[in-house]
Amino acid sequence: MDTDEFDRFVAGLDYPMFVVTVAHHGERSGCLVGFATQSSIDPPRMLVCVSKANHTYRVAQDADLLAVHALADDQHHLAELFGGETDDEVDKFEQCDWAEGPGGTPLLATPRRLVGRVLARHDLGDHVGFLLDPVSVERLDDRGPLTLRMVGDVDPGHPA
Ligand SMILES: Cc1cc2nc3c(=O)[nH]c(=O)nc-3n(C[C@H](O)[C@H](O)[C@H](O)COP(=O)(O)O)c2cc1C
Repeated sequence: MDTDEFDRFVAGLDYPMFVVTVAHHGERSGCLVGFATQSSIDPPRMLVCVSKANHTYRVAQDADLLAVHALADDQHHLAELFGGETDDEVDKFEQCDWAEGPGGTPLLATPRRLVGRVLARHDLGDHVGFLLDPVSVERLDDRGPLTLRMVGDVDPGHPA
């Protein structure tokens, strides 16, 4: 099947937006991710899918920990920064507030944050699925999610 036909199924679906961050060997990176989901209840597991083209993927390739941030509906600016720019060209972490979390992983001020240990990496096509075993979760407030529909104006910093 070609991508246009597949688009008839996926286009117009709405889902929450996340920022995945990582630090490894003195490098930091992070990108906007829509392809992320809980993948198990017990044991708790998250699956985040990162494009092989992204700077974030290159840093995440050998990293032990990833942080997953659920964006709030008033955090469009973070979607623009992490989805519309690439760490190949700019340092996104110079343009936002963040703090070091476990293993130096950059943590952004978002309502829900999860740091997970990478259990497995799966080749899923043009994306790689990182299966995460949560080591910490934080729920800072109850703002609603920023969703795909709300970030339609953001052009990806990297073609997938
Ligand atoms: C709405 C939207 C959804 C995106 N979803 C994903 C995704 O699920 N996985 C991914 O790897 N990139 C996704 N991207 C693309 C990256 O966030 C974008 O190319 C980013 O600039 C890559 O930054 P990096 O090169 O610094 O890692 C999405 C971008 C947008 C605008």
